[in-house]
Amino acid sequence: MKVLVTDNVAQEGIDVLLREGVGVEVRNKLTEDELCAVISEFDGIIVRSATRVTARVMESAPNLKVVGRAGVGVDNIDVSTATERGIIVVNAPDGNTMAATEHTMALMLSLARNLPQADARLKSGVWDKKAFVGVELRNKCLGILGLGRIGSGVARRAHAMEMDVVAYDPYITEERARDLGVTLLPLEEVFRKADFITVHMPLTKENYHLLDDDAFAKMKDGVRIINCARGGIVDEEALYRALVSGKVAGAALDVFEKEPQTESPLFSLPNFICTPHLGASTREAQVSVAVDVAEEVIAALRGELVKNA
Ligand code: NAD
Ligand code: MLT
Repeated sequence: MKVLVTDNVAQEGIDVLLREGVGVEVRNKLTEDELCAVISEFDGIIVRSATRVTARVMESAPNLKVVGRAGVGVDNIDVSTATERGIIVVNAPDGNTMAATEHTMALMLSLARNLPQADARLKSGVWDKKAFVGVELRNKCLGILGLGRIGSGVARRAHAMEMDVVAYDPYITEERARDLGVTLLPLEEVFRKADFITVHMPLTKENYHLLDDDAFAKMKDGVRIINCARGGIVDEEALYRALVSGKVAGAALDVFEKEPQTESPLFSLPNFICTPHLGASTREAQVSVAVDVAEEVIAALRGELVKNA
């Protein structure tokens, strides 16, 4: 059995494959054409988010049995083509939960206290205290959109910051929300109540541009927005307008509709902060997702039960 590994998957995951006698080839930054040219040799492929496993790639892969995603989102894999061709798609849904949860808290605190802006100003030689008066999280209402693994972790940490936490998630039970100390509300009520809104759902056809001009208009004046989930859920042009008008006091994005993103109009705004899809980028998370996905890929290659298909 041979597995192609792309996108800087941690060595610990590769070691799991090697220990189990699976042949591994590591090839980063392959174009679709290059991937199509080499994929026929492989029984499996493991990717992070950069490599797109398209229908064309799968059509060039007569031996491919499994596609492993070292992370949560499988939006870079054509899952319906894989299903049609009997190729199993597995992911690693738990390994980077803590990393993304902590990154969300870091973005929320950075937004509240203008940390990136103050850091940049001071390093440019200006000691400016007046420009960076922030707000406290304590006694503010946090609205969580998507109360799954990461949303729940954020809720627990927000309680520690003495925030009131509400959430919109049509797929979880009242009981689950109650256990987390979170009040489930309809989306528009979350918009109406929240001082901070953080997005933690997958991108689907239904929630594309969920946060658009209409949504921002329904929110509190001076709301602050965080998206550490998927680009495309926030309409970036509408966000730009809302930040310029001051309706939205600040926003922090870790993810963009087009990635890599290096020249968004948002970058010119002083009340906008961002990171280049760093939510899962901790050493611990990368080891964890690499090991988890390698174990799943081995199970799939052996025809054993996989947990995260
Ligand atoms: P999860 O599946 O555990 O939770 C997602 C939650 O969203 C579920 O509770 C689901 O019921 C809910 N949901 C689905 N559609 C919804 C909708 N239209 N409205 C409201 N709620 C909805 O997933 P997770 O592990 O918590 O990950 C959440 C998101 O974060 C995913 O998009 C994932 O890809 C992304 N993510 C990003 C990073 C990063 O590096 N920035 C890292 C890890 C995960
Ligand atoms: C994920 O879905 O796991 C994250 O976006 C992190 C990543 O792409 O590595």
